[in-house]
Order: sequence, then C-alpha cells, then structure tokens
Amino acid sequence: MKVPISKSIFTEEDISHVIQPLSDGWVVQGPKVQKFESMWSQFTKAEYSIATTSCTSALFLSIDSLNLEEDDEVIVPALSWISTANVVENVGCKTVFCDIDLSTFNINLDDLRSKITNNTKAIIPVHLFGYPIDIEIIKGIIGDRKIHIIEDAACGFGSYVDDIHVGTKGTFGCFSFHPRKAISTGEGGMITLNDKKYLNKIRSLRDHGMDYSNDIQNSKPSFMKDHQNAGYNFRMTDIQASLGISQMNRSDKILREL
Ligand SMILES: Cc1ncc(COP(=O)(O)O)c(C=O)c1O
Repeated sequence: MKVPISKSIFTEEDISHVIQPLSDGWVVQGPKVQKFESMWSQFTKAEYSIATTSCTSALFLSIDSLNLEEDDEVIVPALSWISTANVVENVGCKTVFCDIDLSTFNINLDDLRSKITNNTKAIIPVHLFGYPIDIEIIKGIIGDRKIHIIEDAACGFGSYVDDIHVGTKGTFGCFSFHPRKAISTGEGGMITLNDKKYLNKIRSLRDHGMDYSNDIQNSKPSFMKDHQNAGYNFRMTDIQASLGISQMNRSDKILREL
C-alpha cells in the first residue's frame, strides 16, 4: 500500500472562499491578505504577521531586512529543508552549519555554543517537522550578544512550548503554506514578528521596495508611492489568502485530525 507523505483536504467551504476575490475583483495583496495576516496574529499571538509567497521568501526577507554583510555568519542546523541554508547564501553572508541532536532533530545546543563567533549575526533554529525547540534556551546561550533568532517554523503551525506558539519568540518566525503543511494555500508563507522596527521594511521589501501604507481601503490601485528599497515581488494573492482564511476558520479541527 502506498502511504502519501501528505494529502491536502479542501472542503466546499474552501472552494467558495477561493472564488470570492474573483468576483470582488481585488486579487493581490488586498483585504483577504490583510484578514489572513490578522487571523494568523490572533492564532499565534504574534504582534504582527506578514504574508509572503513561501516560507523560503519569508526567511529570505527576514534575513535581508537585517542588512548583513559578507563576513557575517548565520548558524543553521545541518538537517533541514535546503532553503534554510540557501537564503543565507542568497543574501550574501556565510552559512555556518551546526549539528543536530538525534533525539530531537533540532539544533544541537553544545555544537551551537561552539559555532558562535564574533561574526555570528543570526541563528536559524528549525522546528523540524513541527517538533518545537525551546527558544528561551537559545536566548540563554546567546546572552548579551547581538544575535538575531529567525525561527524556521515552516511546519510549526499548532506547535507550542509552554503555551507559546512557535515562531513568536525570535526576531522573526517563518511559516510555510505548501501543501505538505497543516494549512495550505498551494504556495505561501508568513512572517511573524513583535518588533515594529522591521514591519514596514519587510512589507516594503515584499512589494518592490514601495513605501507601505496600512490604509489599503483608501489607496487606489493605480496610486504609486516612493520606492526607497531595492525590493522584490513576494506578495501573496487574495485567492491564496482566502483559502488560508477558510482553513483558519476550522484550524482547531485541522489540528485535532492531524
Ligand atoms: C524546515 C523547512 N524550512 C523551509 C521550507 C520551505 O518552505 P516553502 O516550500 O514554503 O518555501 C520547508 C518546506 O517544507 C521546511 O520544511
């Protein structure tokens, strides 16, 4: 018998949500994306959520917003999906691999201690397969050093440590909505953060470097603002966000049945 690695289950309700933006006429980075972001914040208790095209683009935007330089080092676990390391290479700084702990599949804390140098600017712990690592322990290892934690919580929806949702304790948390995940928008991702300092920078980088106005109801589709950053196009569509909203409406059921 063949056992599928994952199977997306979409309901009639999901299908009716997906077609809504098609009749409303706002299909990209519109009200549905904003609603999905606010539902994500409500669920995870993160202060802010920023929808993206994938967890990979979420990780990339998070690191890119830190303005790291060539000699800066980012520590990543040696076992993860490849994009955890690829994004470090893509922003042009150094990937430093750290062993994993075979009993948890998470980053090995002794090896992590030995890999931290004066050039370490960020650590990307991975909540691999949704199996959570306690970020407080990593914060304890970092101590007073200025090292960012970017939580790769690609598979972490519904995972908690001491009642705190994963992805909400580091500078950033990054989630995936690829079909192998509990909530799937086909492709898609989300960044969670609590520090407002990075909010508009990341929103701008996601959207071609455009200055970000939160007042989407008042902005006209043709209204062009200043472009301060050399940004990218990592915008989620409202079609994807509608699918996310519909699944978030039954998230308890989805998590119970996983
Ligand atoms: C740990 C981890 N990080 C990153 C990713 C990349 O996610 P995405 O496919 O949404 O870019 C995955 C995908 O499965 C993953 O498992």
